[in-house]
Amino acid sequence: MLRIIFKDVRVRGMDGKFDVLVEGSRIAAIKKHIRSDADEIIKGEGRLLLPSFTDMHFHLDSVLTQGMYGYNVSGTLLEGIQLWNEIKKKLTIDDIEKRATKAIKMMVSCGTTRLRTHADVSDPTLKTLKALIKVKERCRNLIDIQITAFPQNGIFTDDENAALLEKAVEIGADNVGMIPHYEYTREDGVRSIDFAFSLAKRYGKCIDGHVDETDDANSRFLEVLAAKTIREKYQGKVTAGHATAMHAYNGAYMQKLLMLLKKSDITVVSNPLINVHLQGRFDTYPKRRGVTRIKELLKHGINVALGHDCIMDPWYPLGKGDMMQVLFMAVHLEHMTGIDEIKNSFDLITSNPARALNIQTSYGVEAGKMADLVLLDARDETEALSKLLPPLVVLKSGRIVASRNELDIRVNDQELSA
Ligand code: FE2
Repeated sequence: MLRIIFKDVRVRGMDGKFDVLVEGSRIAAIKKHIRSDADEIIKGEGRLLLPSFTDMHFHLDSVLTQGMYGYNVSGTLLEGIQLWNEIKKKLTIDDIEKRATKAIKMMVSCGTTRLRTHADVSDPTLKTLKALIKVKERCRNLIDIQITAFPQNGIFTDDENAALLEKAVEIGADNVGMIPHYEYTREDGVRSIDFAFSLAKRYGKCIDGHVDETDDANSRFLEVLAAKTIREKYQGKVTAGHATAMHAYNGAYMQKLLMLLKKSDITVVSNPLINVHLQGRFDTYPKRRGVTRIKELLKHGINVALGHDCIMDPWYPLGKGDMMQVLFMAVHLEHMTGIDEIKNSFDLITSNPARALNIQTSYGVEAGKMADLVLLDARDETEALSKLLPPLVVLKSGRIVASRNELDIRVNDQELSA
């Protein structure tokens, strides 16, 4: 059994410095001093050790396709979808597999070892799903992947789409998706939520939808999803991604929605890098930020997690798979920059997604828990979010899956004036 010891690390949520011993896939002990003949000794020197990161919302099928067949010039969601519809006709399973694997290596190097990706199942060949099932298996020692069957073009915008969604679940998708705001009418949107529930219940799956990803304050499918979750007793199994229309809701409506969300135990996933880029495109000045209300949701006890969503694809031209970069954007956009807010914000990429994925019993930096860990090159959360340095070590199930030597870039002090 492989034994790894972290010496003198700060453990998130604990005061002082500790040694953390990992044996096999689990954390064996956390004590002030551990004498051990470990196979690997990692000098912490007061740096921060915390659970490795979770990305709750990503599109591995479209990742790194930017420029392959054109660019999104307007920067809107709609042009992104049109461009993607052209790109996906030309993709092969092999190509999707290669790009997705490359992106996963980027993510793991930044400390992410758990990922929920969408696979577009609007294509009759279901090639994106088939490719991502292979990637999930191939990369399983680096990262835990869940795949959501995502009907990018809507469930009722084409006669075939509902059957394709069901077939996707049959051949191996983990969760059922939908995109109600993209259906032709509000009625179709409501029907698409009903359809997703019937499918999820029949196959025993969780639900993860793209919901209200628009600046339109009249897009109110989140309330439909919450009400359905309560009526179907599906609490704890439903996630709503994006939810950017919430940014534009009025205060009175928001109060009602908060109550409904709390009761439904839905997790809201915000994708701040992508939505600050895509939203507000139809506004003149002042332009809305177009990000869901992370701070307000948290204040009302609603579970919120973050997703990277895209890297260099039809919807987002930048990105390197770094969840701390996503968090950095979130705390700025949501005014979560009080000292305690910055500290607590790391929950958005650690414990909150663990709650959404129902893995709390094996999760966290505690003896007996899974050794999915990241050692950051910083003494605390504020320094980590300021420096945004890649982690020094990333562990997945007790194995080192990424590591780096310290970057040591020095400014020449002799150039300072006396
Ligand atoms: Fe998305």
